[in-house]
Amino acid sequence: MSTEKKPYYITTPIYYVNDRPHIGHCYTTTVADVAARFARLLGRDVFFLTGTDEHAEKVVTTARERGHTPQEWADINAAEFQKAFDLMSIHADDFMRTSQERHKARAAAYIAQLKDSDDIYEGEYEGWYDPSQEEYLTETVAKEADYKSPVTGKPLEKRSEKNWFFRLSKYEERLHEALRKGEAGEPGGYRILPEARRNEVLGRLKQGLNDVPVSRAVKEGDADWGILMPGDPSHRVYVWIEALCNYLSAVDNEREPSTAEAEGGSRERYWPAAVHVMAKDILWFHAVVWPAMLMAMDKKLPEVVYAHAYFVAEGTKMSKSLGNFIEIDQLEAYSNWVLDAERKQAEKEGREPRPMGIDAVRWFLATNGPLGANDADFAHAKFVEVYNADLANGIGNCASRVSNMIEKYFDGVVPDPSLCPDFVWEAGESESRSQGWWPARARYFVDRASEAHTEFGLYQSLLCGSALAGIVDQFINDTRPFSLAKQIDEEGVRERLATILYSCAEAIRIASLLLFPALPSKMAELWRAWDCSPLNDPDDPNSGFKAPLEELAAWGGEWSLKPGQRITKGPALFMRASAGEAMPTTTA
Ligand code: MSP
Repeated sequence: MSTEKKPYYITTPIYYVNDRPHIGHCYTTTVADVAARFARLLGRDVFFLTGTDEHAEKVVTTARERGHTPQEWADINAAEFQKAFDLMSIHADDFMRTSQERHKARAAAYIAQLKDSDDIYEGEYEGWYDPSQEEYLTETVAKEADYKSPVTGKPLEKRSEKNWFFRLSKYEERLHEALRKGEAGEPGGYRILPEARRNEVLGRLKQGLNDVPVSRAVKEGDADWGILMPGDPSHRVYVWIEALCNYLSAVDNEREPSTAEAEGGSRERYWPAAVHVMAKDILWFHAVVWPAMLMAMDKKLPEVVYAHAYFVAEGTKMSKSLGNFIEIDQLEAYSNWVLDAERKQAEKEGREPRPMGIDAVRWFLATNGPLGANDADFAHAKFVEVYNADLANGIGNCASRVSNMIEKYFDGVVPDPSLCPDFVWEAGESESRSQGWWPARARYFVDRASEAHTEFGLYQSLLCGSALAGIVDQFINDTRPFSLAKQIDEEGVRERLATILYSCAEAIRIASLLLFPALPSKMAELWRAWDCSPLNDPDDPNSGFKAPLEELAAWGGEWSLKPGQRITKGPALFMRASAGEAMPTTTA
């Protein structure tokens, strides 16, 4: 619940450093960033980790093709991911690179521990070998190629090779039990979300578990890339097994106490993770292999493993072969997009036009992305529709309406709501509401948003903010302050108008707190204009909050808008996009 102050450790997958960052990587990382920001807002001690997975064999071959060492090539590409996440306004607490010494040392120690406890053992790997290409093929690939080399057509050989295995089969019962406990909310359990994904994993678990290979043989002429199997220099730790260890290695000062200082103090309190976030492609490793490895190491299990679905592009699955990934350049172009309405307005006011900003992209990803079980489409028309509906016509318009009226009728000074204690208004045809209605309504949305966050329901928690802003619009339509303003000199009217506008502004302030995790820059801008920033540094959306949400969102409380304080109206937070407006180009 919202009062819980347990540390909150959230992770994204570490991304293959050989790939170019695209919308999929940005999506998962943005969603994790939204969750992390919400947790910070709740007052939790947050540690948010993302990073790159660097020890794949492909890194060696691509680096060679391009005339780089593997480390140089990894450095170049890891920087691309960092740049992409900066563009997305991601505020991670650490960026793990598996080629870093701190990770390698700890990951090797975990594998050694698993070997010592006989959870990793030496065995025989049997599979189809293509002598003409010097590689093993999976049964499916071999069968599809009629047991001939897919490249040269020469016959495949059945071969066996020494390999190291993790005893996954030993943990079958315990995994079932931990999942049951997780669902029942008992200690020692973990949960897989969303439910559809959990059912898939349970279905596969029922078919039984095989031990998994965890190493690959070092070949002649191999670059020194990856972790050697402890005690066996003829093998390296398989990249997947090593990568999973990053979640623990990033916070494990128990094993390497000397690193605590460099890492800004001990991070031990962060384990176990509150949530590992990823897409469904890599759920099995996270929901089954990793928890079993943790059991074998006698470590606590993560609370939640959350696997979202995929982003598709204009209705078609994004893939390397189709080359239809939504690239970072396109997200950047949206962020740089100067709308026609903004250009005209800026001209009128004699100022520089302002681009749309990345918050609009973050909003689209967080509210229209594949959170939950279903894939989601990224299409330009939908982006514009959502932008207008939720941002320009939603919180943006609402905030402008209210600050314009406060400016016009009260010279920009927040009016006093207490002068009209018997304020009542008719909502629709049947309901009369008194002043006490608003604080209760705001509280309701704050509570719902906090609850949704515990289930990783980020979409729902953001919608609580939108819904609250939407009610302000409805309230304005019901109470018609612009009509009242015409009779402002009549008895009691000014007081009534003051109460209405105070309620509007205070409700928007509270809504803006709930919207902040997706819209950090824009909400910080609104708070500066209204002089009500809850941030330690009003200019820095990453600077942390002065108090937890529960206190910040208290209606009329310590952090509320105070009668008598000035608010400025500033430029609109989100200008409207017109339907036919040209799509931003990616050359920007
Ligand atoms: N390196 C491994 C992960 C190791 S974690 C211990 C890996 N890397 S990856 O670069 O392929 O990243 C996969 C992840 O990228 C997905 O699980 C998801 O988080 C994100 N996405 C990649 N494409 C995506 C979409 N089309 N849609 C949504 N997310 C996607 O696997």
